[in-house]
Amino acid sequence: MLLAFGLCVVGALAEKTLVQRAASFSKNVSDCPGYSLHAVEATGTGLTAQLSLAGPACNAFGTDYQNLTIQVTYETETRLRVRIADSEDSQYTIPESVVSRPAAPTTSFTNSSDLVFNFEPSPFAFWITRRSSPNSAPLFDTRLSALPETPIPPVITGDESTALDGFSLVFEDQYLQLTSSLPLDTNIYGLGEVIASSGFRRNLAVGGGSIQTLWTRDVGDPVDGNLYGSHPVYLEHRFNETTNEAQSHGVFLFSSSGGDIMLLTPPNAKQSLVQYRMIGGILDFYFFSGPSPVAVIEQYGALVGLPSWIPPWAFGFHLCRWGYTSVNDTMEQVQAMRAANIPLEVMWNDIDLYHAFRDFTSDPVSYPGEEVRAFIRDLAANNQHYIPILDAAVPHLTNASDVYAPYSKGRELDVFIKNPDNTEYIGQVWPGYTVFPDWFANATQEWWTEAMKNWSDGGVEFSGIWLDMNEASSFCQGSCGTGANLNDTSVPSVQIPGTPGNPVTDYPECYDSSVSGPSGNITINGTSTCTNSSSPSGLSVRGLGAGAQSGVDLNSPPYVIHNGFGDLSVHTLATNATHAGGIVDLDVHNMWGLMEEKATHLALQELQPGKRPVIIARSTFPSTGKWAGHWLGDNYSKWEYLYYNIQGILQFQIFNIPFVGADTCGFQGNTDEELCNRWMQLSAFAPFFRNHNQRGAISQEPYRWDNVAKASRTAISIRYSLLPYWMTLFANASMRGTPPVRALWYEFPTESELFAVDRQFLVGADVLVTPVLRPNVSSVEGIFPGRGQVTWRDFYTHEVVKASSNGTATLSAPLGHINVHIRGGAALLMHAQPAYTTTETRGGPFSLLVSLESHSNAFGTAYLDDGLSNPPAESRTVTFSSTANELKISSRGTFTVDQKLEELTILGVSKKPSKVSVGGKNLQKSSWEYGTDVQELAISGVSVDLNSAETVVSW
Ligand code: NOJ
Repeated sequence: MLLAFGLCVVGALAEKTLVQRAASFSKNVSDCPGYSLHAVEATGTGLTAQLSLAGPACNAFGTDYQNLTIQVTYETETRLRVRIADSEDSQYTIPESVVSRPAAPTTSFTNSSDLVFNFEPSPFAFWITRRSSPNSAPLFDTRLSALPETPIPPVITGDESTALDGFSLVFEDQYLQLTSSLPLDTNIYGLGEVIASSGFRRNLAVGGGSIQTLWTRDVGDPVDGNLYGSHPVYLEHRFNETTNEAQSHGVFLFSSSGGDIMLLTPPNAKQSLVQYRMIGGILDFYFFSGPSPVAVIEQYGALVGLPSWIPPWAFGFHLCRWGYTSVNDTMEQVQAMRAANIPLEVMWNDIDLYHAFRDFTSDPVSYPGEEVRAFIRDLAANNQHYIPILDAAVPHLTNASDVYAPYSKGRELDVFIKNPDNTEYIGQVWPGYTVFPDWFANATQEWWTEAMKNWSDGGVEFSGIWLDMNEASSFCQGSCGTGANLNDTSVPSVQIPGTPGNPVTDYPECYDSSVSGPSGNITINGTSTCTNSSSPSGLSVRGLGAGAQSGVDLNSPPYVIHNGFGDLSVHTLATNATHAGGIVDLDVHNMWGLMEEKATHLALQELQPGKRPVIIARSTFPSTGKWAGHWLGDNYSKWEYLYYNIQGILQFQIFNIPFVGADTCGFQGNTDEELCNRWMQLSAFAPFFRNHNQRGAISQEPYRWDNVAKASRTAISIRYSLLPYWMTLFANASMRGTPPVRALWYEFPTESELFAVDRQFLVGADVLVTPVLRPNVSSVEGIFPGRGQVTWRDFYTHEVVKASSNGTATLSAPLGHINVHIRGGAALLMHAQPAYTTTETRGGPFSLLVSLESHSNAFGTAYLDDGLSNPPAESRTVTFSSTANELKISSRGTFTVDQKLEELTILGVSKKPSKVSVGGKNLQKSSWEYGTDVQELAISGVSVDLNSAETVVSW
């Protein structure tokens, strides 16, 4: 049972909206009466109706609302909103000022929408169908008749809370429950943030499932537990083997409340189910009709906000670590990278930069402001950039002689979060006792912008900002300042890694110190007998079942979500911490990071007018992509986490936060040479590419080992040559929400063998990456989508892959080689001369790679602009369209492209041409070559103006 104890409180309490607060809670939803619907009114854009509690209040985990209002709005042809709120609107709803959404529709889509809202009045239930296939299983279905019979014993063994007592709609002040059935064989992706042991596709296995807890949490990086971000959105894909029809749709609950989203399949059930258990807010659902997965992601982006424009330099290689002891130490890294000829675009500093761990400072001894300024200017002179960390909490100071403007000014402007009694709320982070910006307060934006400006003026002339600890993290449980000695210098008690007593001793799976020695080398294909690649130890095992554990505070709120830390106030702000206007943190906890990201973006816009802000943040929420990118947090230097890196990237594409990447070579623990080599190569195909390391761990900059240096040079040079492709993919993300990185099945939605593939990924539609994710191997197996109908060519050799009948092929993958394949039918504009920085690379000529599908067609587009202006002032789109013996290059737009297209490689040209012409002029024989082996026509020494309306290349 669902923690069934206590009695239902019924009767007179259930008279009003909000019914008078229940004195006790039944913790059992089996008696919840549901609601009946009445007073339906058609509106121009949908309908509204009233819902009334259909029986005595059950007060399961809160107090039932007597009256609710439902509003159904057909917002576009592809987006339907179903909003159920208490009739007096007293539950928390996310204000427009935090997440703005498109204006209400002015025309009616009621009869043309792809989605249809159906309902039955008593007990009230609704289901969503597709207009085009009214008889197919509904996309979402809350009818009791669609769900299995209850009670159902715990679906996840050992987790009592996964027992299912009832499926009625429950709408209480502290507990909202809504359940929909799902087809047994469906595929669900998204919901987050999570590292799912099941992989990118969520676990819905019969007799099991998964729980997505929505509670942002500073924790490095547990498997299957809640972590930094909260994303109540999923992408569902349904495929009918018989008809070969495949369609995707999306479901988004627009709520900042904590909660559990259960994805379960009871044993013997005829259906799976998704159950929302929220501890506040309202039920504000959006449905997206797709029907392709890419369209679902675009439709979600159109609602929450499209990703910000990313400048080209942000696609360069970034280097960071916790533990660069001084500006000199940092500078030496830049020099060592240059000496090793490994491109370095952006140098970072962690909290080592700070004086006494204080935000907006640099240490006067190890990082003196003027030296930092000189260092950053030097970087800038070499087309390189600098990003410093900015922590969420601001030190609380008691000593008047300790001058620290961000705190004193913040107090003066009243920008910090309060206790319920209006006193300053005090937590604990690296600097000791701290306060936290309240993004709801009037003056916070102004104060934050000014603090950033002063910091930059003082020498830290940042190009972008790294937002850390913004869940928001605090090292005690809830408030820890009240009654404490605020001068206590032993605070915080959290030990810094790499300090005496806290060494970093862990190594990757299979690391053999007797072979390797302390520098981390291992012998590739040597004597290792390691077969173990199980999950790393030392991870938090809290998560499933946490609510039933002893020592967990069950009092507040009554429904205990599966927060990995148990009590909601552990390692973060107390749930009763109070924001301006009396908003309690319980309602807005999950949005603290988003609000900081927005404020920082706005600050950067003011301080760097017209430039594209670059922000990488840890805690995210729907719409973060509009303001920032994300790194996947404190991963481990483990092979397992190299694999998880891929699902992390794919997940954040769904969330419309596409600029994402992991700490390359791993953050926690020591890396080794082989893992770092493979990881540098994988991350060269991730949107955000940064090597970052924990304090106290062995050094892992790519120049530290010769073979890692070599592998990095190779991979980075491919990355920079593909920069026009990345820029085009990200322009499409910023203009339409199109995901730059894709799971294989997005492009091949009827190939069910791809639905669970998450060891390979596609960059755009055309570049397939098959990384090695295991130690001590020199080959890798990959699947090649298209079931033999699509040609995949090796990026390096241009040979066509010969896959077996099941579509797989074993590829040679010696250390230092990452397999990359180009899809037949692709035409990719590239930089011909990848250089040390993206600026130099962009200054050079272009090349074009055309991969004809079966000797016939290819198509591609390239988006070009100055890479700086925000939003782009002028742009140009160049289209490449090829048939068996002709390529048309058409160009439109206002941006002037200075660099010429100087090299063209056309693959799949079936026989040696007798002549080749460009723009109507025959080329000399010396300007082209034909390779029979790989059917390659290589043209060089030409100078195609990409601004001309049309240029024809023929052969
Ligand atoms: C936690 C962050 O996740 C990590 O990347 C950083 O190095 C440390 N904080 C120290 O600032």
